[in-house]
Amino acid sequence: MINNIDNNLLDKIVSLAKRRGFVYQGSEIYGGLAGTWDYGPLGVALKNNIKHSWWNKFVDSREDMYGLDSAILMNQRVWETSGHVGGFNDPLVEDLKTNKRYRADHLLEDGGVDVTNMSAEDMDAHIKEKKVLSPDGNPLGDVKQFNMMLKTEMGAVQDSASISYLRPETAQGIFVNFKNIVDSFHPKLPFGIAQIGKAFRNEITPRDFIFRVREFEQMEIEYFVRESDWEKHFEYFKDEMLEWMDEIGLDMNKVHDVEIGDGDRAHYSKRTVDFEFEYPFGQKELYGLAYRTNYDLTKHDEATGAKLGYLDQETNERFIPHVIEPSLGVDRTVLALLLSAYTEDEMGGETRVFLKFKPSIAPYKVAVFPLLKNKPELIEKAREVYGKIKAEIPQTLWDDNGNIGKRYRRQDEIGTPLCVTVDFDSLEDDTVTLRDRDTGKQERIALDTITDHIKKIVSGS
Ligand code: GAP
Repeated sequence: MINNIDNNLLDKIVSLAKRRGFVYQGSEIYGGLAGTWDYGPLGVALKNNIKHSWWNKFVDSREDMYGLDSAILMNQRVWETSGHVGGFNDPLVEDLKTNKRYRADHLLEDGGVDVTNMSAEDMDAHIKEKKVLSPDGNPLGDVKQFNMMLKTEMGAVQDSASISYLRPETAQGIFVNFKNIVDSFHPKLPFGIAQIGKAFRNEITPRDFIFRVREFEQMEIEYFVRESDWEKHFEYFKDEMLEWMDEIGLDMNKVHDVEIGDGDRAHYSKRTVDFEFEYPFGQKELYGLAYRTNYDLTKHDEATGAKLGYLDQETNERFIPHVIEPSLGVDRTVLALLLSAYTEDEMGGETRVFLKFKPSIAPYKVAVFPLLKNKPELIEKAREVYGKIKAEIPQTLWDDNGNIGKRYRRQDEIGTPLCVTVDFDSLEDDTVTLRDRDTGKQERIALDTITDHIKKIVSGS
């Protein structure tokens, strides 16, 4: 029963996201493209607010963080050196009748098997021994390792030198620019390099809306530290990540940090804590925090001879710094925020749906409308009010579609915290109605103080 309710919740979110212009299926009019989603105007605004909030906390408000925007396409040797060509695999198994492909671990998990620490060989043995069938009831083939990087070709000549990969993580762009940042800025340890950008993975079975997709966005930091200090910085970033999640309005009762065991960590990590979220389809990864040691810089140093060490000016000692890596997916943040904000209640004797976004994250902070749309004097006054507010609060929306009740419902559904209505009294006394999304309460506010009033409410979030 709980599952039914939860599955309904995801359906409701997917439908609201499409109806209101948050997220559309990728290439929809051509029948879609699995694992891709397009963000509409509301989705873009939400993503921008998430990214700005992250950048503001982790880059702009600090002295020890350097921003970067590296190319998605990188020399293929980067991915050989980083271990992704050899080791960035998921276990794949094929239905022998339909040739449909599945992730072996997901298939076993869905059947109630604990796959913790199971290798691809273990899964293969389990499937054979227990005669596990595909979801269509057919026999399964051997479990094989499937590389998740999306390969592409560059230039006009087709040979092995023209191969490139769409990056599966933004992190490698940071490692290959480590020396550039050190040479340009001479930062003192500890310091970090931060980047927001697209990443691509050829997921075997993309699923659960924007949870597991083939094209997504990451917000990553590589924070360079002395080896002896790694534990201190790991704990620090764990706290900072939790603080940020709370700041943007994730339901913290649904966030859990989980220590990842030896067999389940990525090849480069000595310690990983995943922050998992209770999605309707189960508790699954939201973000990761890893201690990558000096694995990547050492490998790139060895492969290129580029001298990726750090010279400590005080001790004159040269060494390759160790790395703490907070890695966050933007798309999973959008999903977890939609799930955290989705609320149904009763207002005016009707069920209403609203997204209880924190004002700082809401796509629009305020909507302005005339009480009636066929009265020129009201439109003129409302346009004046709209222009005045928008000049100071850019995420202000004009809405004159349908009647006032419909407009409130629409703004509730997209999570706009405040609505301003210009009515006939406004023409007489220069006041407007300000309505609060969560309570539906309305108050009269003088026009000369309305923008400051809204700013106060919005920044208090
Ligand atoms: N640089 C480390 C790294 O990439 P990861 O745990 O593989 O680590 C980091 O990915 C984050 O990127 C995840 O916690 C998740 O938020 C996001 N992510 C990874 N794969 C994803 C996918 N297929 N779809 C959506 N988000 C994904």
